[in-house]
Amino acid sequence: MDLIFLGPPGAGKGTQAKAIIDKFGIPQISTGDIIRAAIRDGSELGKEFKSYTDKGALVPDELVVRMVQDRLAKDDCKPGFLLDGFPRTLAQAEALDELLKGMGRGLDHVLLLDVADEVLVDRITGRRSDPETGRVYHIKFNPPPADVADRCIQRSDDTEEVLKKRLDEYHAKTAPLIPYYEKAGLLRNIDGTGTPEEIRERIFKVFA
Ligand code: AP5
Ligand code: MG
Repeated sequence: MDLIFLGPPGAGKGTQAKAIIDKFGIPQISTGDIIRAAIRDGSELGKEFKSYTDKGALVPDELVVRMVQDRLAKDDCKPGFLLDGFPRTLAQAEALDELLKGMGRGLDHVLLLDVADEVLVDRITGRRSDPETGRVYHIKFNPPPADVADRCIQRSDDTEEVLKKRLDEYHAKTAPLIPYYEKAGLLRNIDGTGTPEEIRERIFKVFA
């Protein structure tokens, strides 16, 4: 099952990914997570990434495409993959099409989590992540358990100011992927509001 998770920052891609990857036994490939790991390593490339993510700007296409190409070549992607946060530009989508064609495979579904901008501000500013497990929580909607609460951190790009720029980038550069995948017959529009359980049920209907 070759899947893409599309949606604005805070739509719930990371939150919903776990159930999907468990169902199909496929890896979640989050370009944001890979980029943040490189930043933590302190490499030169990581420093370059940080100059973009801190501003809420997209990292250049060539760098992200190469990263995804390397990741898709790994053995665990044989049964499929869930791309979370990639592609994010038309150039990335076209590069992915070429890449998959070269591998003799193609996308099954593009899952679009649809959430209005007003809802996203609360979700993003209240998000906390557990650096040890990678699990995502929310101070109001899904508080971390007491034993992990102290080690939870806030992402440096999760401020209202940076979110504004991330949303601008989404609407200008990523939203054009919606008609792109609609034309290809791959787009599955999912209402991303409600409880995480309600949203998971809507997603699973796509696979029924
Ligand atoms: P990335 O890490 O991909 O961030 P994003 O797309 O902005 O998405 P988020 O991770 O912020 O949101 P999410 O949809 O995963 O939401 P979550 O489930 O955590 O990218 C970060 C940066 O990296 C980019 O700005 C860019 O610089 C760079 N980058 C990455 N990929 C790139 C690419 N392909 N090209 C170029 N640059 C790239 O949920 C959010 C919060 O809401 C959580 O607190 C959660 O608990 C809560 N929540 C979830 N669901 C619900 C619900 N139903 N009700 C209430 N709260 C909920
Ligand atoms: Mg995420």
